[in-house]
Amino acid sequence: MNTILIVTADTHFKNKVFRAIQKKLNTEPAFTESFEDAIRILSQKTCSVVVGDSELYSNTLNIQFFRQIKQLWPKTMRILLIGDNKNVDIIEIINHAEIFRVFEKKSQALELVDMIIESIETFSSTFYAHKMSKLLRMENSQLNMENHLLEQRLSTQVKDTEQINSTLSTTLISSVKALSEAVEAKDPLTHGHSERVAIISKEMASALGLSGDETAYIEIAALLHDIGKIGISESILNKPSMLTQVEMAIMQQHPIIGYNIVTHLPFDTYIANTVLQHHENFDGSGYPHHLTGHAITLGARIIHLADAYDTMTTVRPYHTPLEHAFALEEIKRKAGCHFDPELVALFIELKY
Ligand SMILES: [Fe+2]
Repeated sequence: MNTILIVTADTHFKNKVFRAIQKKLNTEPAFTESFEDAIRILSQKTCSVVVGDSELYSNTLNIQFFRQIKQLWPKTMRILLIGDNKNVDIIEIINHAEIFRVFEKKSQALELVDMIIESIETFSSTFYAHKMSKLLRMENSQLNMENHLLEQRLSTQVKDTEQINSTLSTTLISSVKALSEAVEAKDPLTHGHSERVAIISKEMASALGLSGDETAYIEIAALLHDIGKIGISESILNKPSMLTQVEMAIMQQHPIIGYNIVTHLPFDTYIANTVLQHHENFDGSGYPHHLTGHAITLGARIIHLADAYDTMTTVRPYHTPLEHAFALEEIKRKAGCHFDPELVALFIELKY
């Protein structure tokens, strides 16, 4: 219900306005004859419109009255009534008290009613907008609070997950190292080989800017690359002389045996494929499937190179270790046939 408050001592005007409002708005306005009383009424109930008669008081008091309403009840619409009082500076009141509309008392009362209707509509929309804004602010503040709580929870979960991943990763690498050492135990001369190959492979993967996951896969594959040797007899593995064709054929089974072992481990298939392909040559002359170029996984191309370097530079049953420089020359010589030339360039850059 919209309350209309009219402040005037003009009985004739009061009567004509009362009838017009009752007729058109089907409501009764509240009347008072003083500004003081009007302020008291406004303090007790919400009024959508206050119509104040400027002829009641001086200019200063008019300004004070409307300003006070503006400050205390900013949404209440203010209409100034003017008569023939020449002592009142209407422009000054309007400018100082932000009057919504001005009505000349001699005009038709129905025109004032139209003005009141317009004021009520403005009041209602302002009131509704304010209410919505308050609701939105409350909802926003509630959402912000919920967001903050969610962020806190998420941050704790991420930290927990990072901790679990880090623990798992450390445990996983340790288990894989233990597995590769078990294989190397069959051949004392290869002790530490897989770990050295893994160190070089990881270094190359990092230098290539590969992601953490890709680098980890390559490191694991490097540690496990010769795991298939577990299925090769020690007489072949440790033979101090050149292998026969048959022995070589058996030896060349180790990537396939390794692949079959690793596919049963809970690893990404990339690791098993890399183990399978670590003896493939860039030109297709390798084994077991004669793959070429980039059909060989990047991890397998890296491990193939690191494996060859470590094999050349360490003691083996069938050869004495090569000097670092000679090994590098051999690798350079085989760039494009055994090894990926781009990786050879990177390897030289890292090892010089
Ligand atoms: Fe191998």
